[in-house]
Amino acid sequence: MSTTTLSQEPKKIFAEAEDFLPINGTDYVELYVGNCKQAAHYYKTAFGFQSLAYSGLETGNAEIESYVLMQDKIRLVLSSPLKAGTEIGKHIDKHGDGLKVVALWVDDATISYEETTKRGAKSFMKPTVEKDQFGEVVKSGIHTYGETVHLFIERKNYSGVFLPGFKEWKTDYNPVDTGLKYVDHMVGNVGWGEMNKWVDFYGHVMGFTQLMSFDDKDISTDYTALMSKVMSNGNGRIKFPINEPAEGKKKSQVEEYLDFYGDSGVQHVAVATDNIIETVTALRDRGVEFLRVPSVYYDTVLDRVGTIDEDLEPLKELGILIDRDDEGYLLQIFTKPVEPRPTMFFEIIQRKGAQSFGKGNFKALFEAIEREQELRGTL
Ligand code: FE2
Repeated sequence: MSTTTLSQEPKKIFAEAEDFLPINGTDYVELYVGNCKQAAHYYKTAFGFQSLAYSGLETGNAEIESYVLMQDKIRLVLSSPLKAGTEIGKHIDKHGDGLKVVALWVDDATISYEETTKRGAKSFMKPTVEKDQFGEVVKSGIHTYGETVHLFIERKNYSGVFLPGFKEWKTDYNPVDTGLKYVDHMVGNVGWGEMNKWVDFYGHVMGFTQLMSFDDKDISTDYTALMSKVMSNGNGRIKFPINEPAEGKKKSQVEEYLDFYGDSGVQHVAVATDNIIETVTALRDRGVEFLRVPSVYYDTVLDRVGTIDEDLEPLKELGILIDRDDEGYLLQIFTKPVEPRPTMFFEIIQRKGAQSFGKGNFKALFEAIEREQELRGTL
């Protein structure tokens, strides 16, 4: 039941005196969705997640049904309401299917709560002990941007399959995995002029440091622009880029997200693989839809990034993007949004030394997104 372990430590631009919020990794991410039963089937069939745990009427929960899926170190929870008038139901009505909880694995959920709330975090859940025959878990939680929350999960005295209240989910339908390993980073979209507010929140309230920043000169096309700063926790296992829209001639993808989500929220979850060609081939064969850049991207990409280990042809065929920084290079690709509203999507990333986020691809990528926006009539 461990989560992310990254071998390379990030570069620090500034550092807090000490890490008052040690985090072992991402414990799980939870999506509130209209039909978690069907969503679970999608994430198993298309993305290769494995069945792990279940909670619902059969476990004595008459309010919420949840399916927990796992792939290597990634745990994905999908939850839906079992009746009208619930918080989850209101969340879905307002935002559509969306990412509600970014749960962080800590050694002490009580201290995590105290250290963050005394620095100004708004409480979501006071430290709460949950028990069953497998031991106990301590949970606490704070609000972040929009209606998104961080839960702190302390599970050192627990040996059950997921959390108290869940039972093991056994099924005969078990599609093979696609090589997804761990959550590399999660990006938040926040409203106009709010990026620095949330950078300060992660800096002062959670003790994160800023890894890098991009402004509208880095991330703009003829039409759209955005600004971004990347915040990371002390050991580098948690990385949260924060985007805000910038003025452009037309509506940016961040604005489109904010309009459809109705609030700030998580824009994409980036998951790492050790072999992006095999992973993306499998995902594509299983029906996952990806954004495509024009094939001319590949005419000049090696002039920009230099020599890479992979043959260019399969990368071109699959639409995988390449970027390089001082420490190495990375390969990445982005799915189309995975729900009816043009909101949350996934990134597949393979790092070969690079610790950055693909800045060199932003322009080509945003032009691809604009073509999609044009089709939606939202540009
Ligand atoms: Fe990303």
